[in-house]
Amino acid sequence: MVRFDANKHNLRRKTIDAIQLLDIPVVEDVRGNLGIIQSGFLPFEFKRVYYLFDVPSSAFRGGHSHIDQQEVLIALSGSFEVTVNDGSEEKRYLLNKPNIGLLIPTGIWRELENFSSGAVCLVLASDVYKEEDYIRDYDEFLRSKK
Ligand code: TYD
Repeated sequence: MVRFDANKHNLRRKTIDAIQLLDIPVVEDVRGNLGIIQSGFLPFEFKRVYYLFDVPSSAFRGGHSHIDQQEVLIALSGSFEVTVNDGSEEKRYLLNKPNIGLLIPTGIWRELENFSSGAVCLVLASDVYKEEDYIRDYDEFLRSKK
């Protein structure tokens, strides 16, 4: 069964070259730094914010791609690794700075692991939660890229 049209969603042409590390504006202050993400800064308008916390160091998160939604991941605290994959190439990022965001466009498989103690992963997403936007089956993901 075909759930979506990979052409219509432009999934095939999304490669890991479209992934970007974003420098989040920070107001530095001896009283503590202040990071700012407001409307217009990201290449999409975010409609949802969620965060992962209390993640066991042995846990694997992610393991999916999205049909329409884009996301930015930020290590607000601690560190974790993100492996991204476009069906033919894989790249690994260590996120460990609260002023760096990893922009993951649609059509990219992502896996998160090796969370440090106290790590918090903040995610800004381009839409509200929709299970039908997920591709959770790796073979289905590979088919969406062919
Ligand atoms: P999932 O996105 O699979 O987590 P991760 O990619 O971080 O491993 O979500 C885990 C569960 O939480 C799943 O049952 C869906 C639910 N969920 C929501 O209800 N709303 C949300 O915004 C998110 C991200 C997940």
